[in-house]
Amino acid sequence: MIRVLLVGVGGMGSCHLDCWRRMDDVEIAGICDVFPGRAAEKALPGEAVFTDMDDALATLTDLDIVDIATPSYLHRELSCKSLARGIHTVCEKPLALSKEDGEAVFNAAEKAGVFFMTAQVVRFMKPYLALREMVKESRFGNVLRARFNRISGTPRWSWENWMKDEKKSGGVPFDLSIHDVDYIVSVFGKPDRVEKTRAVYREDDRLTDAYRADLMYGDACISAEAGWYSGAMPFSATFTVVFEQAVVSFDGVALHVYHADGESEEIDLTTDSNAISGINITSGDGYFEELSYFKRCVQTNTAPTAVPKEEVLCVLSLAEHE
Ligand SMILES: NC(=O)c1ccc[n+]([C@@H]2O[C@H](COP(=O)([O-])OP(=O)(O)OC[C@H]3O[C@@H](n4cnc5c(N)ncnc54)[C@H](O)[C@@H]3O)[C@@H](O)[C@H]2O)c1
Repeated sequence: MIRVLLVGVGGMGSCHLDCWRRMDDVEIAGICDVFPGRAAEKALPGEAVFTDMDDALATLTDLDIVDIATPSYLHRELSCKSLARGIHTVCEKPLALSKEDGEAVFNAAEKAGVFFMTAQVVRFMKPYLALREMVKESRFGNVLRARFNRISGTPRWSWENWMKDEKKSGGVPFDLSIHDVDYIVSVFGKPDRVEKTRAVYREDDRLTDAYRADLMYGDACISAEAGWYSGAMPFSATFTVVFEQAVVSFDGVALHVYHADGESEEIDLTTDSNAISGINITSGDGYFEELSYFKRCVQTNTAPTAVPKEEVLCVLSLAEHE
């Protein structure tokens, strides 16, 4: 059994908890959340509850994994704490709000000789895995241009409204856009240059944060457009990739290929055949896959290579300096 301590059980922590519970070989050793009663509300009989991570680490001495899903400004501090105890650690994105803080976490993991992974879930999602294969195999020739979109209503649910505080969440560049910029860097590598534009508008407690990063690879512009809009926009994540011989489009539900000869096809995302990956992804959703991937790495004592340090630090440096 792999024993997990989950730290932070708000929106994303609850999703992680559900994923861990779906794994036969995982036991939730404890849940920790500073919000009074929240961990107890989520815990099943036999699972320890804490409001302080130090208490949890002092009490639970046989942990295999610590999973951190707290607000982003705490990621460095809490990750370093668990790594210093010699426990494999997985932490939600963004790893940190600066490259320097991100480096500190990777250094702590190296010093402790344990595994660390940033949970960049898009890398584990089927439409994006399918696209990765198409690009890597040059299946439709070179990519001429691409656009990734990620839009939602401005978050209103977060603990003490931390997401709307730029110093705590990093705003859209760190919180939302980072999903696509991370994916782009993972597929296309470090860009030759980046052009960024951002519009932020605050009025009373309303916030609009609209951001676009154009990552340039030679003449090819790969755009990541992300926004929190103050209206009740439903969440959407889509992409359009223009290859020499086809256009590949994901509308948030289905993945289509529009071939240059006029034919079109929908890619079947229900089987593994289109989502082949060097990181051995099977079926299921991205959150489940990222956590079970990390768990397998721990079980087999294999370093997690799906979210490499160099790429994470590159992405943090791209998000810095608006
Ligand atoms: N991968 C994704 O798709 C995705 C989506 C949403 C959020 N996130 C990330 O997940 C993280 C959490 O976001 P959220 O939406 O769940 O926020 P949230 O506000 O809903 O939940 C955060 C939880 O952490 C708890 N917390 C705060 N300080 C703590 C501490 N010191 N120790 C223990 N618990 C503490 C809060 O009480 C709250 O329950 C963020 O880093 C965010 O960027 C990722």
